[in-house]
Amino acid sequence: MARLLHVFTHHEIQAAELCGWAILAFPGAPDAFREELFSVMLDEVRHAACYAARLEELGAPYGTHAVRDWFWERTLGCRTPLQYVALMGLGFEGGNLEHAHRFEDLLRQAGDVQSAELVARVGREEVAHVHFAARWFSAWSDAAPGAGPDYDRWVAELPPPLTPAVLKGDPLDRDRRRRAGLSEVFLDRLEAAGDTRTPSRR
Ligand SMILES: [Fe+2]
Ligand SMILES: [Fe+2]
Repeated sequence: MARLLHVFTHHEIQAAELCGWAILAFPGAPDAFREELFSVMLDEVRHAACYAARLEELGAPYGTHAVRDWFWERTLGCRTPLQYVALMGLGFEGGNLEHAHRFEDLLRQAGDVQSAELVARVGREEVAHVHFAARWFSAWSDAAPGAGPDYDRWVAELPPPLTPAVLKGDPLDRDRRRRAGLSEVFLDRLEAAGDTRTPSRR
């Protein structure tokens, strides 16, 4: 249990760090984008702090286990803000909308209701982060008004070797993804994309 929350804590820390990285890496991006990204970063810091506090309660403070910088390793390949929102917001955070449900259920089954509710709360808050990415992706890729991100364009902006199949969970959380600004066409294509086996993220 604590080991799982340790992984989540490190995910949130990386998410916060990568927001900071992107703010600095893309100085030419619109101020409004960078300001919103700063506020996403504060959300991620808060999420990390919540998980770290829960780890303390479970007697396994952050740092107890080894970590892997999975998000860092893949995100540093982004060369433009468009690639960044494609990967981090629509990709990793999008996939997390499904993973949060799965882990919430597993924690409940294991009897850790407090951790399950924390995972659920963080999962709900991540919808806004995916929405943030969808808005900027649409604006920068000249999507038709109200259409949301174009699926083919999104795939084209993902740094290899990442593909949509590893950036989603099963079943797809269509409701949350819809609320995050993704169209039915996008969701149909994502749902049909390959299998859902995810490489180790630890
Ligand atoms: Fe988060
Ligand atoms: Fe997030």
